[in-house]
Amino acid sequence: MNIAMINGSPKPVNSNSGILLKMLEPLISTGNELTYYNPNKRPLTPAEYSELCRMGALVIAFPLYVDGIPSHLFRLLATLEEYLKSEREQEIYVYAMINNGFYEGSQNHIALDILKHWCTRAGVHFGQALGQGAGEMLGSLEKVPPGKGPLKNLGKAMHSLAGNIQSRSKGDSLLFSPNFPRFAWKFAATHSFWNATAKKNGLKKKDILRRL
Ligand SMILES: Cc1cc2nc3c(=O)[nH]c(=O)nc-3n(C[C@H](O)[C@H](O)[C@H](O)COP(=O)(O)O)c2cc1C
Repeated sequence: MNIAMINGSPKPVNSNSGILLKMLEPLISTGNELTYYNPNKRPLTPAEYSELCRMGALVIAFPLYVDGIPSHLFRLLATLEEYLKSEREQEIYVYAMINNGFYEGSQNHIALDILKHWCTRAGVHFGQALGQGAGEMLGSLEKVPPGKGPLKNLGKAMHSLAGNIQSRSKGDSLLFSPNFPRFAWKFAATHSFWNATAKKNGLKKKDILRRL
């Protein structure tokens, strides 16, 4: 089967969405042809939109932006909808891997609903989604195998997703937080990210808390 791996992060490099796609790859690569698309670097060409209409499955990885879908990905979906309506000849299944900045992966539920509604409009099948909370942790956990430590929930969800992609079936979507205490995550984010970033920009801790 031909599978499109679409990175819907606006980041040109080092995106958490890219990390999720790379983690999924070994679980679905046998017997399938995977093609990567990075619409953040440049808009897709008409030939690429037509190519997407000939895929057996679309895997879309993206970050949660203001409880929704980043605008450049939204534009891609709106354009793809028109191509699908005129060029699609076979059944297409859509799978999603959403990640968000807040701890709770449950926050991805609105973006998930948006994607499901889009599938109905575009005439494709919604297969399954996973939604990882505290997504910015992924970059520092690249040496941790999925299914272990803080990535225990992610590993389980990814195996479920990979199984459904392989058999082109549907499954319940899984939105989850990392296997890491919330207070420890907040502590690490405050000290190693926010305070460090403030210092780099010549600001003090109290400047971050100042209200306008
Ligand atoms: C403009 C903008 C809006 C965002 N909105 C949300 C949000 O509503 N909820 C949330 O939990 N995280 C939000 N985030 C955080 C991203 O979802 C998070 O940093 C994610 O890990 C980025 O993934 P990526 O590396 O794949 O782009 C937002 C980030 C940006 C830059």
